[in-house]
Amino acid sequence: MRSSSKLTFFLLITIWVFSKTCKGRVFTFKMHHRFSDSFKNWSGLTRNWPEKGSFEYYAALAHRDQMLRGRRLSDADASLAFSDGNSTFRISSLGFLHYTTVELGTPGVKFMVALDTGSDLFWVPCDCSRCAPTHGASYASLDFELSIYNPRESSTSKKVTCNNDMCAQRNRCLGTFSSCPYIVSYVSAQTSTSGILVKDVLHLTTEDGGREFVEAYVTFGCGQVQSGSFLDIAAPNGLFGLGMEKISVPSVLSREGLIADSFSMCFGHDGIGRISFGDKGSPDQEETPFNIDPAHPTYNVTVTQARVGTMLIDVEFTALFDSGTSFTYMVDPAYSRVSEKFHSLARDKWRPPDPRIPFEYCYDMSPDANASLVPSMSLTMKGGRHFTVYDPIIVISTQNEIVYCLAIVKSTELNIIGRKHCLFMCL
Ligand SMILES: *[C@@H]1O[C@H](CO)[C@@H](O)[C@H](O)[C@H]1NC(C)=O
Ligand SMILES: *[C@@H]1O[C@H](CO)[C@@H](O)[C@H](O)[C@H]1NC(C)=O
Ligand SMILES: *[C@@H]1O[C@H](CO)[C@@H](O)[C@H](O)[C@H]1NC(C)=O
Ligand SMILES: *[C@@H]1O[C@H](CO)[C@@H](O)[C@H](O)[C@H]1NC(C)=O
Repeated sequence: MRSSSKLTFFLLITIWVFSKTCKGRVFTFKMHHRFSDSFKNWSGLTRNWPEKGSFEYYAALAHRDQMLRGRRLSDADASLAFSDGNSTFRISSLGFLHYTTVELGTPGVKFMVALDTGSDLFWVPCDCSRCAPTHGASYASLDFELSIYNPRESSTSKKVTCNNDMCAQRNRCLGTFSSCPYIVSYVSAQTSTSGILVKDVLHLTTEDGGREFVEAYVTFGCGQVQSGSFLDIAAPNGLFGLGMEKISVPSVLSREGLIADSFSMCFGHDGIGRISFGDKGSPDQEETPFNIDPAHPTYNVTVTQARVGTMLIDVEFTALFDSGTSFTYMVDPAYSRVSEKFHSLARDKWRPPDPRIPFEYCYDMSPDANASLVPSMSLTMKGGRHFTVYDPIIVISTQNEIVYCLAIVKSTELNIIGRKHCLFMCL
């Protein structure tokens, strides 16, 4: 029962509006949580990081989530302010928790990139005017140093000019055939990346059957100038946007017929997980459609009912799936109705909220406690399918006590379904 993962879903979400015939290949990358043992030696990242499972650990994760939500609020304002054509992407400037290694160019160079479902562009440090320091930051167990991309050192690198389909910020172009500039910014944290778009091969390996090596051309940002948290902990070696826009790598791979229009992310307890492009899930998984706003497509789903124990609660709300958010956030009345029902069914002794952590419903775990005493939970999504919340609580252990809390935080603006033990998304 001791676990740091929150709401555990196992689900397959499909956008019914796009149905494509696609190849069945699946490309898998290993994924590392920022606070996993394999990252312990990434300088700066894990410094002063509290022991897993402690009050301080959850307080730190919640603090990170809060900054993330602050970002979302100011982003809404920013997108209005940028009516002159400057593009602002939604970026999890402080919330990145998962990283993967990608290999780009010929000969291949490896980058440890942050994964982000809230933005679309893939960028790496490149031809640096201002990049995060790369020296002295070695990944002990990953056996490579942070790299910088150099288009002139890759024989497969290609320029992306202003007349290219992928060039979204043409108002900043100097001429039709000049390199396409890009800027991704996050106003309130002064975090941004800018540079030019380039095209090069991304090295992929199939996981099923015989290992097949594929080199797929993708368009990405040659990030020449970074600012704010991109200069330190957030994404020192680049960012991999997993959004739905056409520039995101999953969209590109699918358009090129290399994979199904889908990917899955699985998070393991040891902080090591996997991300698989083209994974369509398994037939026994449930499906629900995304709510797609064509102007800004996001991983937005509709919950129609919640079940706590055997009690059904009629609450309808839309929520975002976000792998960069640690916990699940609910706005009232859903928050109160779900958490109060949980409280009425919990059999352990309630303890007053601890100001260090944002959870209202915490209990002293009795010595003979077992998982069957914690009320079970499931959500019904649009389409009528039920998704079990396998692990609705977090467990906090101190020297002399064990406390568990309902891992749902009251929110005033957005419903967010945070990082899960295993989350499948098909887009
Ligand atoms: C848009 O970009 C231009 C060029 O970089 C800049 O001068 C201008 O201030 C930006 N507009 C906003 C609203 O940030
Ligand atoms: C981290 O670095 C220290 C000293 O540089 C080394 O002794 C230790 O084994 C490394 N830890 C991991 C997990 O590789
Ligand atoms: C999710 O989709 C619904 C329905 O289209 C919309 O009203 C809501 O604003 C969206 N939520 C977010 C956070 O984008
Ligand atoms: C958990 O506790 C319940 C109620 O006390 C009991 O019926 C059940 O057998 C226990 N399960 C385990 C795995 O110990």
